[in-house]
Amino acid sequence: MNIVGENCEYEGGLFLVYFHAAYVSRPERRTLMSLLVSPLIAAVHFPPISEVKCWLAERPANGRELIDLCQAVPDYAPARELTDHLALQLGDPLMSKYSPDEGLPEVRAAICDYYVRKFSAQLSPDNLCLTIGASQAFWLAMVTLCRAGDEVIVQAPYYFDHPMALDILGIRGIYAPFIEANAGVPDPATIEALITKKTRAILIVSPSNPTGAITPPDTIRELFELARRHNIALILDETYLEFIPGGVRPHDLFSDPAWGEHFIQIASFGKTYALTGYRAGMLVASGDLIHHVLKAQDTMAVCQPRITQQAVKFGVENLDVWVAANRDMMTRRHDLFRAEFMLPGNCFQLSASGAFFAWVRHPFSGCSGRQVARRLVDEAALLCLPGEVFGPGLEGYLRLAFGNIREEAIPEAVQRFRELDLHPL
Ligand SMILES: Cc1ncc(COP(=O)(O)O)c(C=O)c1O
Repeated sequence: MNIVGENCEYEGGLFLVYFHAAYVSRPERRTLMSLLVSPLIAAVHFPPISEVKCWLAERPANGRELIDLCQAVPDYAPARELTDHLALQLGDPLMSKYSPDEGLPEVRAAICDYYVRKFSAQLSPDNLCLTIGASQAFWLAMVTLCRAGDEVIVQAPYYFDHPMALDILGIRGIYAPFIEANAGVPDPATIEALITKKTRAILIVSPSNPTGAITPPDTIRELFELARRHNIALILDETYLEFIPGGVRPHDLFSDPAWGEHFIQIASFGKTYALTGYRAGMLVASGDLIHHVLKAQDTMAVCQPRITQQAVKFGVENLDVWVAANRDMMTRRHDLFRAEFMLPGNCFQLSASGAFFAWVRHPFSGCSGRQVARRLVDEAALLCLPGEVFGPGLEGYLRLAFGNIREEAIPEAVQRFRELDLHPL
């Protein structure tokens, strides 16, 4: 392959790949490769978290310790009783073997009990497919529902991995705009106006990454009815579900006897049990859809690792109290972060926040989020993500994952925003 500037020549032919102006991949990798790659993947930007972490190597040594507000990873360890339990499991010779593609029946049955507590839902284990993180659950949903050329409506600001997956698969992401006045909550009428004959699904993340906004149950119900009317799927990515303050029920969709005809849930236990590296995700859908999902699962991953399945089983059977304590701690972090950030004299404006995240408008008009984020690394030792990686036209914003830092570090982090020298970039 020969990549020159913004264009990409493919198989000597005329595939022109336009890199989004805001996306910068790793230029040193652009010119050396002779293998052909799909123009679809060639056009996708480099993973944003990897990109901003590369900036750290070039950061001036100004003696300040870095405050990392970049990636949404719980800063605390998994529950001790969980890791002790897993240590005992490792000796079981079965632990190193495959499981059924969808996961062990006893693990899925334990998750169904948890869904009774969390959602008053009467799910069957056949509704569940355990996956390699919520990330793989999203791929499974997409390859099962869509062909290349189909459309999926995605609420912006979006979780950047979603459009990356869509672009790689040749599925068209249609982006519902961020409405600042709604603080990141989707507007069903705006979404309905985007539906075409090619639309296969509406994708909502609640609580949202990157805004933290929680879509209220009534709005979720409205979106579900919308999906039903148009015979498309409502896909809810509920990765941060256990961080909704007070542990309140996020929606009542599972109480609809026909929920599975138009609703697909993407779940993750990674943030809930501080097990992001275990890759503990799940797809919840009708038994009929899961039947087809398993064809993709078999070729993609075969199954979630057994040790991860045991971790999830232990979690749903034993850790409700532990999860609630961490949720309360995250709520305190959020309250403190908001209170500090909104004190007078801060030129950065809080646009939306909740769960792990704050979505902030920066004060440098005409500058990209990338330029501002880079400056924050160099001048304030703060690492965060630029708004434009979460959707077109969002260069004026930054995402701060305050869920990453302990309560006592929050005032210092906010102070660094206040102190940033506002000379023009
Ligand atoms: C909204 C959202 N969905 C999915 C994921 C991926 O989760 P997992 O680690 O379970 O693959 C993340 C991770 O940050 C996320 O923020």
